[in-house]
Amino acid sequence: MALTNNQAVLDWIHEMAAMTQPEHIVWIDGSDAQLEELRAQACATGEMEKLNQEKLPGCYLHRTAVNDVARVEDRTFICCRKQEDAGPTNNWMAPEEMYARLRRLYTGAMKGRTMYVIPYSMGVVGSLFAKYGIELTDSIYVVLNMAIMTRVGLAAARQLEDDFVKGLHATADNDPENRYIVHFPEDNTIMSVNSGYGGNVLLGKKCFALRIASYLGKNQGWMAEHMLILGVENPQGEVRYLAAAFPSACGKTNLAMLIPPEHYRKMGWKVWCVGDDIAWLRVGPDGRLWAMNPEYGFFGVAPGTNEKSNPNALQATRKDTIFTNVAHNLDDNTVWWEGLDKNPPEHAVDWKGNPWNGKTSTEKGAHPNSRFTAPAKNCPCISPEFENPAGVPISALVFGGRRAKTAPLVYQSRDWEHGVFVGSIMASETTAAATGDVGVVRRDPMAMLPFCGYHMADYWRHWLDMGKVLGDKAPKIFNVNWFRTDDAGHFLWPGFGDNLRVLEWIMHRCFDEIEAVDTPIGFEPKAEDIDLEGSGVSLETLKGLLSVDTTLWKEEAKEISAFYQKFEPRVPARSCQDFFAL
Ligand code: PEP
Ligand code: MN
Ligand code: NA
Repeated sequence: MALTNNQAVLDWIHEMAAMTQPEHIVWIDGSDAQLEELRAQACATGEMEKLNQEKLPGCYLHRTAVNDVARVEDRTFICCRKQEDAGPTNNWMAPEEMYARLRRLYTGAMKGRTMYVIPYSMGVVGSLFAKYGIELTDSIYVVLNMAIMTRVGLAAARQLEDDFVKGLHATADNDPENRYIVHFPEDNTIMSVNSGYGGNVLLGKKCFALRIASYLGKNQGWMAEHMLILGVENPQGEVRYLAAAFPSACGKTNLAMLIPPEHYRKMGWKVWCVGDDIAWLRVGPDGRLWAMNPEYGFFGVAPGTNEKSNPNALQATRKDTIFTNVAHNLDDNTVWWEGLDKNPPEHAVDWKGNPWNGKTSTEKGAHPNSRFTAPAKNCPCISPEFENPAGVPISALVFGGRRAKTAPLVYQSRDWEHGVFVGSIMASETTAAATGDVGVVRRDPMAMLPFCGYHMADYWRHWLDMGKVLGDKAPKIFNVNWFRTDDAGHFLWPGFGDNLRVLEWIMHRCFDEIEAVDTPIGFEPKAEDIDLEGSGVSLETLKGLLSVDTTLWKEEAKEISAFYQKFEPRVPARSCQDFFAL
């Protein structure tokens, strides 16, 4: 039975069903009973496997096709009416042409199958921040993931209005040649076909909460950002919040769930996770910038997650979690991935579904982009404000990337405009999170390169406009780099929990509690103002981490100028010479 009587919603579902021709249509009401029934069905067909219910209660394993393991940026499109509005960093096709092409791929694609109708909310239902959508899909795996990652069911359905975000996903033949992830921002519409991988098919996440939402935010005066949100509680019990943007697989989830070093724990420092991937930000009634995590769970990269690197994330995956493309330990029906522990299983099945002996095999057991889908409320350090409909007030915005040289451990922009520039020049070495080469430096403004639903330079302009609205209540803007190496390629900074040492300085700066040093690229800490006790880092090393090599930065400035050329004539910022004192 339909969960809404909104005619626009019903008409659209009818139209999509006429095209895809499913045998059944089932509304997802969000009840445990219904989801449990779907889990049983998925296990019966082999789409999922039920794991050891004593060790991993409520947990399941799924494998995608071997050619379908990551977001496909070359097959991701922004189809707005004018090509120039999509900008030079998005693939574009004229909407009518794309609709026609997709229509051919979707026609009859659900024959003999069930179409699930998932009403969902991004954000606490009924909050000022929340936006509502429907995903139509023929995949139970998608339904079950959406039920972890978003708020699905009746409560969301009741909020649907004519401006709901439409999402259609069909597995079809899973043909990579005909795989499309398409956004029509002017129509509030997302269409995904021939994939079964998370970022391509969980349409609430990257497609809605970033690509469509960034476009909505520009038009409506708010921001959708690829940012984690965390609260830093100081020994006085005061919690201050920051939002931070890093390119995919640069440790956002680890930073969001940071465990303070012992020395800090003893003093009473705590870190609270509000979100690990996406922040929606709006100006609050007090004129400050407030942030909300539109998601309901974590879709995290499994490899490298362990008791040391991120015990909170690991704990979050111990129940009610779906694992995708990890190794299956047959001895005790649990899961394993590279970097979980030093004890790979001997009797296992690898992510491709082949028998695998972790003790002897030279192949990986888990795909480098294998994932866990875990409910946010499982996380031991989830913020008490996670469900606050008002969000949390943001003191600092932090940008970062993986740079072996160039970028210092931390620096602060001189003002908002300079901060927008700092975000716009973000660059990082690529990882396995997207298909393509690994280890290549790519510019990734605000970590939004794959996620901005419109012209990147218009997006920078929107940032500048937000700064004008925020005025002197604007958060302070910083850049961090945890990944600087020595000449032998060893990391100089321990990272993980020790990053709190840098966050402490950032928070002091936001509240005018500490001085800074002026450098050619912005404000930096005095080396003695970073608490190194128990870090194993010497003052000498820290000074190295904070050093600014003007020769490298002059090179960088040239590259930035060339990069900016791509976005002309729309670049709103002053020339980069104005922001450097090299
Ligand atoms: C995804 O690929 O589904 C995803 C969530 O992306 P990322 O981890 O790269 O942000
Ligand atoms: Mn992400
Ligand atoms: Na990805």
